[in-house]
Amino acid sequence: MEYHTLRWQGDASGTLWMIDQTLLPEEFKEIECWTVEGVWEAIRVLRVRGAPAIGCAAAYGVVVGTRDARDASRDDFNLRLKEVTEYLAESRPTAVNLFWALNRMTEVALRESALESAAIHDRLLEEALSIHSEDREMCLAIGRNGAELLHTGTGVLTHCNAGGLATGGDGTALSVMFAAAEQGKSLRVFADETRPLLQGARLTSWELQQRGIPVTVICDNMAAQVMREDRIHAVVTGADRIAANGDAANKIGTYGVALLAKAHNIPFYVAAPSSTFDLNLATGDLIPIEQRDREEVSHGFGRQTIPDGVDVYNPAFDVTPASMITALITEKGVIPNPCTSSVAEHLASA
Ligand code: MRU
Repeated sequence: MEYHTLRWQGDASGTLWMIDQTLLPEEFKEIECWTVEGVWEAIRVLRVRGAPAIGCAAAYGVVVGTRDARDASRDDFNLRLKEVTEYLAESRPTAVNLFWALNRMTEVALRESALESAAIHDRLLEEALSIHSEDREMCLAIGRNGAELLHTGTGVLTHCNAGGLATGGDGTALSVMFAAAEQGKSLRVFADETRPLLQGARLTSWELQQRGIPVTVICDNMAAQVMREDRIHAVVTGADRIAANGDAANKIGTYGVALLAKAHNIPFYVAAPSSTFDLNLATGDLIPIEQRDREEVSHGFGRQTIPDGVDVYNPAFDVTPASMITALITEKGVIPNPCTSSVAEHLASA
């Protein structure tokens, strides 16, 4: 089945459609986001999620949110743009792609200061479409670069969902698997269930099944045993923000998987586009970690599993130190043993 995680319909006065990922795998449904509040809510509650997809959604959200200012003066348009970008920036804190995309949208408006409001609004749609199509290209390149690291017969573990549902294209970690499969390499993918919101169980397994790649879902606490049984020969995950030294924030539990991989001598790869790097942060200690609602843990998927009054701690992400990452895979190539200088050199390369 062909599907689009996000798609824009119409001209700049048009509308954003997205798959409501909270409903998968039971129901496949696209929803229309006609207001910026709708886009904010969709990002916040993870109807659209995954760092690059959040960036694309935010860019389209800017177009949606400034639509009513098309006929306003340029000063008023700029005021509305500021309001909309500040609002969308509050939706989720960890994935840097969100802020990267909002900055790109703002820069267009600053650069094109002589244009009328309607014309700048048209330019903002063009920019959002470019962010989306560039992301698609980045995914394909990440896939090509990472596929070299996987061999036929490899058992690959992934955590959370870093597939097409998390990007504007084919995904990051999953793109590596799709490209390897297209090269004729047979893989067996293990998808961590990924508590508490089950992105691995609900989304990763759904995507791999759609693409005909054998996948086995395991509970998060099974990974050590499955590694010990020699079923896993590589781990590939995505990232939400990578600091200048290569420390990578990703879905909670990723750091634990990296520790397990190290203990079992299994390579641990992180696949991410250059838009996921934050060179303003020297190390991963500075990456803001989203804290989410208690109910996600205490009342997951319709059933209370923790007594009332018991405390819950629910950080949505953790940081894997660069020293535990065998290589970062980007659209530009592979960074083995990442560190501050190799990351800077790689990102500066053409
Ligand atoms: O909370 P989520 O579902 O947005 O978390 C997503 C992840 O952690 C992904 O692994 C990451 O964004 C990379 S997506 C290509």
